[in-house]
Amino acid sequence: MATLSGSADIVRYNAVARGFHAVIAAMVIFNLATGIGGDALEKTWNPFPAHKATGILILVLSLARLGWRLTWTTPDWPTTMGKVQRTVAKVTHAALYALMIIVPLTGWIFSSAGKYPLSIYGLFDWPKLAVTKDSPLAGAAHESHEVLGFLMAGLVVLHIAAALHHHFIIKDNVLRRML
Ligand code: HEM
Ligand code: HEM
Repeated sequence: MATLSGSADIVRYNAVARGFHAVIAAMVIFNLATGIGGDALEKTWNPFPAHKATGILILVLSLARLGWRLTWTTPDWPTTMGKVQRTVAKVTHAALYALMIIVPLTGWIFSSAGKYPLSIYGLFDWPKLAVTKDSPLAGAAHESHEVLGFLMAGLVVLHIAAALHHHFIIKDNVLRRML
């Protein structure tokens, strides 16, 4: 059992899970901001090369995170959480995991049809999939990227609001155990 200074003993998520969560959360927030604000930003800085490279990294890290996730079970939820809240949390987390894979995957698919290389921060080129421009697959992936990207933004806002609600209103350990 780990201790946080100034708090009672709490059972936290394991260090690897907390590390994955923090790094991927920061990258997802960056990608949602550059995706949604991309066109406005483009006048001063084209964010899309960084958006694509970070998105690919999110895909790779999320697959590793999911693999790691299968090796342990979450600490028990506090008694402050009822049955409905636990179900809502479980469903939201499962949806976030799914979107962390599907959203970058759709980006990779439709961007493979574009003329630009998928450069990983100028270090090396990520392979492109065999998708042609104007193909139904490229069109569907583009459409899904937009719709699911906005769905993800909504879920992330809800997720952060829930974490802050636990910390500041209910005053339980739910936020601290993930930090
Ligand atoms: C979790 C990772 C990602 C998130 C959350 C995300 C989110 C978004 C969002 C919300 C948009 C704006 C949609 C719109 O207004 O049309 C967007 C646009 C875009 N994304 Fe991503 N994205 C991710 C990964 C990727 C990846 C891996 C690629 C390509 C390798 C990519 C390529 C693009 C491109 C090219 C656009 C501009 C599309 C357009 O203007 O029509 N994204 N992304
Ligand atoms: C922005 C992108 C984010 C994504 C994609 C994300 C995703 C996730 C996922 C999938 C879980 C479930 C972990 C598991 O049980 O395996 C989780 C848990 C958690 N997240 Fe996030 N998260 C994000 C941001 C944040 C932020 C900014 C905060 C804090 C304000 C936060 C607070 C938490 C907390 C407290 C838990 C643990 C909840 C519990 O104990 O059941 N998350 N997150």
